[in-house]
Amino acid sequence: MKKQPIVVEYNFEASVFNWEIAPGKTIEAWGFNKQLPGPVLRANVGDTLVVRITNNLNEATTIHWHGICLPASMDGTDGVQKHIEPGEVFEYRFVVPDAGTFWYHSHTNETVQMEKGMYGALIVDDETDPVVDDEKILMIDDMKLNDNNEFTKPGWFLPRAIERHDGRQGNTLLLNGKENLVINVHGGQTERWRFINSSNARYFVLHLGGKAFRIIATDGGLLEHPITVTELLITPGERMDIAAGPFTEGETFAIESLAYNRMTMLKAKRETFATVKVGQNKTTKAFIPERLRTIEPLAKQDAAITRKIKLSVDPRIRNGKDFRINDSTHVNDKPVMVGELQVWEVSNTSRMDHPFHLHGFFFQVIEENGKAPAYRAWKDTYNLKPKSTIKIAWMPDNRPGTWMYHCHIIEHHAAGMMATFDVIDGSKPYVEKPPTHTHHHHH
Ligand code: C2O
Ligand code: CU
Repeated sequence: MKKQPIVVEYNFEASVFNWEIAPGKTIEAWGFNKQLPGPVLRANVGDTLVVRITNNLNEATTIHWHGICLPASMDGTDGVQKHIEPGEVFEYRFVVPDAGTFWYHSHTNETVQMEKGMYGALIVDDETDPVVDDEKILMIDDMKLNDNNEFTKPGWFLPRAIERHDGRQGNTLLLNGKENLVINVHGGQTERWRFINSSNARYFVLHLGGKAFRIIATDGGLLEHPITVTELLITPGERMDIAAGPFTEGETFAIESLAYNRMTMLKAKRETFATVKVGQNKTTKAFIPERLRTIEPLAKQDAAITRKIKLSVDPRIRNGKDFRINDSTHVNDKPVMVGELQVWEVSNTSRMDHPFHLHGFFFQVIEENGKAPAYRAWKDTYNLKPKSTIKIAWMPDNRPGTWMYHCHIIEHHAAGMMATFDVIDGSKPYVEKPPTHTHHHHH
């Protein structure tokens, strides 16, 4: 029986607080309800989520509900709402229509607010979820701190332009706001681990000491079949749910990120984020079926392209805005009509990786560099390797308003690799808006 939808309410306070990332190692974090990550929001498919936020920071903020197909007015961008100024209260209210692993994060002055901890997980459950013995939500982050455990100033102008070029990647490695987290599991059991990459720029290649694990879900919920791998790239903004285990009683292994060369000036290295300790064996009730669900294809691989989006980087490093969409920065893109299938060719002509994120709608990758992808999935964030091209298909359903897409390396987004566009209801006349001026504060 379907559960009756209910209203799930949370009160959030955004504030500055001290957070212990390791015993005796405290940072001055920014976040929600003095927790890092913020509280886990949880609801069933169809429920209404209400999050009332009081801004007790000294600067304005907004919250974006990454991956949720909500009305445009609740999307948390400055295209759809006024900033929540210090001292103000704002109520977000929306239905959560899809099961999966989602997250929320600041969508104002993100390079600072997200880096300091303004993010958390949003989990939507459904009775079709596979049965597991337990679950862990694991938010990946890193922070760039100085010797006094203070955030270094965000690099924007030379000589810190490297941070602007590569994204802000730190060497304080966190899972759920903790360094060297220890995760306890039982032998013989299988758990669902929901990974969310909430870092500004880090490419995380999940590795569990070489053990095989099964990918069961990504951004827009379950895959069609579990996929067995030993490593898995999770780029900023992406989610990957895995079935972890069964493990052997008494064993210990690391959760690592393998080296990934995203072609920046940073040296790719293999790094340890956490340790898993396998305790006493317990009986299992877990069942991961071979068929998790059916995902109907939205379009054929050769579907006619309706829009081309080119991501590029000006090779010079200077103080200007050199991260581009279609040779421009902070773009106002053309509108799309409700109900008209979108087939977008997104190409990356630069020599570095970019995770492409579309707000408010899931897409299917129907082609990557001329080939059909290995498996079908609902995505909202997808990595584009250097000099690569994807074709994505998505359907603007009846949620008119202003939306956006951007690179989820937060510094690239801020440096111009973003666009807004309207979804318009074709039954109503469309009035073109003057270009919105996107203002970014760089301190
Ligand atoms: Cu998670 Cu506009 O982003
Ligand atoms: Cu980028």
